[in-house]
Amino acid sequence: MAAEGSELRSPPATAAAAAPPPKRRKIEPSRRDRPSQVALDRDKVASSSSSLVSGTPPLRVDLNKVREAKRYAVFQAQHEGCLGSYKSFDSSDEHGLFYALDLGGTNFRVIRVQLGGREKRVVSQQYEEVAIPPHLMVGTSMELFDFIAAELESFVKTEGEDFHLPEGRQRELGFTFSFPVHQTSISSGTLIKWTKGFSINGTVGEDVVAELSRAMERQGLDMKVTALVNDTVGTLAGGRYVDNDVVAAVILGTGTNAAYVEHANAIPKWTGLLPRSGNMVINMEWGNFKSERLPRSDYDNALDFEKIVRRILLKLAHDASLFGDVVPTKLEQRFILRTPDMSAMHHDTSHDLKHLGAKLKDILGVADTSLEARYITLHVCDLVAERGASLAAAGIYGILKKLGRDKVPSDGSQKQRTVIALDGGLYEHYKKFRTCLEATLADLLGEEAASSVVVKLANDGSGIGAALLAASHSQYASVE
Ligand code: BGC
Repeated sequence: MAAEGSELRSPPATAAAAAPPPKRRKIEPSRRDRPSQVALDRDKVASSSSSLVSGTPPLRVDLNKVREAKRYAVFQAQHEGCLGSYKSFDSSDEHGLFYALDLGGTNFRVIRVQLGGREKRVVSQQYEEVAIPPHLMVGTSMELFDFIAAELESFVKTEGEDFHLPEGRQRELGFTFSFPVHQTSISSGTLIKWTKGFSINGTVGEDVVAELSRAMERQGLDMKVTALVNDTVGTLAGGRYVDNDVVAAVILGTGTNAAYVEHANAIPKWTGLLPRSGNMVINMEWGNFKSERLPRSDYDNALDFEKIVRRILLKLAHDASLFGDVVPTKLEQRFILRTPDMSAMHHDTSHDLKHLGAKLKDILGVADTSLEARYITLHVCDLVAERGASLAAAGIYGILKKLGRDKVPSDGSQKQRTVIALDGGLYEHYKKFRTCLEATLADLLGEEAASSVVVKLANDGSGIGAALLAASHSQYASVE
């Protein structure tokens, strides 16, 4: 486990081609009021184990596999493999204007928040989302960070009257960087490897905060990075800012990962001073786990949905003439089948799966698919989504077990409410995935324990969390 020396004193109470023009979206004020809350519901267990489409065979969660995954997740959570930063979250009372930069996929987000202390919390909030031109995802480090710094600078220029920087102060920023990093301090960390389609020369082994800071200097932007966080850690911080019962944050999007709050004395590798709160945050980087204990299929080296579904369909087209005598050439094309397309096919409830058929035609150019081929495609979507959701549920269960929150107290004491903050498009937009995840988690926990566990959508929480952590590590913190 990589340890980070610095303790978080505060918070939170709670593929190369021509570049399309970046899309922008600006939403204000705060979206914080929106997050929905999903309590585990036993009824969903039943609904997830049978297909919604009449005529398809009911699909059941394979409990043996879930149990195996559960043992694996608990093992991982308890032993090796965690790569992370140790941080503690105490409650504090941040005030002022702080920025965040959230980089973790094909879009990045720039955010500013005006914090009003314990009482007012987030007074104003604004953000902009910017698409990264594909050629910059495979270019040089300098090109990428210069692009980001330029966008950040133009965002800073639009700072309005709702935001106040005290005279003589430098703007400060929390940097959410959602790639595997060896964190060397609260505001520095070296990139271990790029993921999520990024392949950029010259960043691996470099301090990503230094890279960003140099780009801001080149841009003439006077801003200091005071916190470097993973999106899971940012989501956890943002989640706890509004709800003290949040114990873990999970991201299920282009990448996946989890972070949780651990008792510092339960971390054998921690040799530093114990934090005041007694708590630390562990960034698990659970997407990087590989283990003999977890059954792996031929498709697992391409661990994301569209690749797995596309490869299975391709194999079926080759080996079983799924789409007739000709194998659609588009099936060989990487990234052609996106998760939203898979989700749309998977949620087709028409009796003849006509929407699924239309998708196969649009995306793969396969006209006139047989009803059987459409049902098989649906079944593949079902299996792949259900397997992924079950693994994610097993991972969450592993965390709860590690924290002793997987059971009702045997001494008769009151049940503790436990909240998991969840973010990422897969969880937010893929209903069948979400339903299966919640149902499997409820199943693993059992009815009684599940009744005190809440899975909460923490939409956009990582940016706010990063701003909070930037505030708690402000260079001016001791002045106040
Ligand atoms: C990265 C993690 C990140 C996760 C979710 C993974 O690919 O390695 O650091 O937390 O994606 O964004």
